[in-house]
Amino acid sequence: MSRDEQKKLAAEKALEYVEDGMVVGVGTGSTVAFFIDGLARMKNRIEGAVSSSEQSTRQLESHGIPVFDLNAVGPLKLYVDGADECDPYNRLIKGGGAALTREKIIAQASDRFICIIDAAKQVEHLGEFPVPVEVIPMARSLVARAIAKMDGHPIWRENVVTDNGNWILDVHHWRIADPVGLEAKLNQIPGVVTCGLFAARGADEVIIGGKVRPIRRPA
Ligand code: 5RP
Repeated sequence: MSRDEQKKLAAEKALEYVEDGMVVGVGTGSTVAFFIDGLARMKNRIEGAVSSSEQSTRQLESHGIPVFDLNAVGPLKLYVDGADECDPYNRLIKGGGAALTREKIIAQASDRFICIIDAAKQVEHLGEFPVPVEVIPMARSLVARAIAKMDGHPIWRENVVTDNGNWILDVHHWRIADPVGLEAKLNQIPGVVTCGLFAARGADEVIIGGKVRPIRRPA
């Protein structure tokens, strides 16, 4: 089965979690695009969505799905989003699409985070995919130097400005033994807005293709 077919199956499975009257948290990316198309078929049953990016907002609105400000609707029951990497404990790397900050906010504001991926995103250890870090522009070189001291190799994603007006550093060649610890350390660097490690708050469930994958519990 192709990766796109797997993404579509995962998105269709995630639609089963959508309940009548919900405001659904919606992520960003090609997998989520399939989810939004599915959501459009049931748009009369939901109240609307909270969106993690301008890209997803445009797609939601093109289907006539109302998009709400998170502040106006409060905690959400459900958030559906993709990922760039997922380990057996449902910890993730996200932000390949540069939407990591709003994605992390909505994940944190949601009772249940369903992550939809294709099988190629599964890894035993996070770090093969470069870890995106959103930075305030004036802090780019300061943050890059701090990351280099942590044995990371940051590369500025030039020509990309996030929806929040910030820049992205992609950190390559990181052997991530402790994703929760690294996430906390990155969050401490002045100028870091968000890092793409979703470890302290990972996914509650991961759907690969059409199936929910069992989570591995720490020994
Ligand atoms: C965007 C993200 C996406 O969820 C991630 O990049 C996966 O994208 P795709 O579904 O296109 O593979 O984190 O910031």
